Amino acid sequence: MSKKIFIKTFGCQMNEYDSNRIYDLTSKIGFTKTEIKKDANCIVLNTCNIREKAKEKVYDEIGRIKKSFKNLKKPIMIISGCVAQAESNEMIRREPYIDMVIGPQSYHKITDLILKYKGKKQKFNETEFDVIKKFDELQKIPHSENKISSYVTIQEGCDKFCNFCVVPYTRGPEHSRSFKQIIKEAGNLIDMGTKEIILLGQNVNAYNFVEQKKSYKLSSIIRELNSLKKISRIRYTTSHPKDMTKDLIDCFKDCKKLSPFLHLPIQSGSNEILKKMNRKHTREYYLSIIEKLNKANKDIKISSDFIVGYPGETEKDFENTIDLIKEVGFINSYSFIFSPRPGTPAATKKVNNKSENLEKLKKLQSVLEIIQINNNKNYLNKYCEVLVENKVNENDKYFGRTKYMTPIIFESKNINPGDLVNVKVTSYSKKSLFGFSINNKIKAA
Ligand code: SAM
Ligand code: SF4
Ligand code: F3S
Repeated sequence: MSKKIFIKTFGCQMNEYDSNRIYDLTSKIGFTKTEIKKDANCIVLNTCNIREKAKEKVYDEIGRIKKSFKNLKKPIMIISGCVAQAESNEMIRREPYIDMVIGPQSYHKITDLILKYKGKKQKFNETEFDVIKKFDELQKIPHSENKISSYVTIQEGCDKFCNFCVVPYTRGPEHSRSFKQIIKEAGNLIDMGTKEIILLGQNVNAYNFVEQKKSYKLSSIIRELNSLKKISRIRYTTSHPKDMTKDLIDCFKDCKKLSPFLHLPIQSGSNEILKKMNRKHTREYYLSIIEKLNKANKDIKISSDFIVGYPGETEKDFENTIDLIKEVGFINSYSFIFSPRPGTPAATKKVNNKSENLEKLKKLQSVLEIIQINNNKNYLNKYCEVLVENKVNENDKYFGRTKYMTPIIFESKNINPGDLVNVKVTSYSKKSLFGFSINNKIKAA
């Protein structure tokens, strides 16, 4: 009987990349991927520790797994990702159902640990920061799934230490992967049919790799990928405003395959709060970057992350954030109520009133939503370029994304996943566009 592995992924795209790689790694020791939890001999929860809620979801999920396996053979229960790193042995103490805790820089060891596991009461804990070893091991393992849009992690960790954030503690210091290794991995994915490469890093634009006295930046990777024939789109996330250098901004002018869409978190529109957060940039500096981006490419659109209710945030600070949102006109953004994370400097500060925070979040989200809806409305009766990702059903309906990541469902004939097509938009909702495409193939897969 074949062994089956089920992975549930929480958190950011970097965790999604890691989960895909865990599938690739475990396939080498005979595991096949299953979408049905109950069929699994091994379950991995790839966890996120960014907010308290994200962490608690993990324990809730273990509770559900225990229930559904009550009359079945217990699967090997593995916790990977950022909660594993932050809580380590504490997790095994709190929940003895867990067999292994593996940090985000140690998951290349997962196959050895599974092979060692004998179903005894022995527990494994691998939470070292061994990032160079990890990527050296991973490069030996080919990707097993071909996708139209694929992630490639190019950078890990963070040296910025925003006062609210756990990432520098869970992912460790900034580390950039070898340029050659990245281009090779992207090339392999493109050979397998990938049309869009999304370069990932907690601070992706801090990428800096030096080899034989030559320094490679994120712009070097973008320019190299842009020159490859079989690729249609390039994107990167997540960027820090401080690292938006001229060479990177120029890519939006020069590289036609680079999507004119940038996720650039600001967190707050108030300089007082940005200072309290230790964000290392001001509102004015952020706006100057937006101006440079707009000059480089007039079609560029920006999305961002916002935290409301940061300790000490006044009504005025909050209004400054609302003004900034209106000024920039952010699309597709994320917003959260501040969540105190143990071990971070902000965790010891007095938290703001819960219901006021909730009110603020609602207001901020409604402002973002109006901009988003107007942005979608602007597409009405116009054509937009769509990368086809898959067929939705038998009635010639397809799913794809615009250059700005907006999902679009449309009718068409004789097209394939991976094609770039021109779609006429006939209606829209808050989050999606709808339309059709007739003989509008821009580029075949
Ligand atoms: N590196 C990115 C940057 O420079 O902003 C962000 C990475 S973090 C994984 C994603 C987002 O989670 C942050 O931009 C922030 O808005 C949010 N976040 C992080 N810590 C948080 C906390 N303690 N409470 C609420 N939101 C938080
Ligand atoms: Fe967290 Fe700040 Fe680093 Fe982003 S830059 S990962 S928010 S510490
Ligand atoms: Fe979460 Fe870790 Fe990503 S805390 S957001 S999974 S880097």
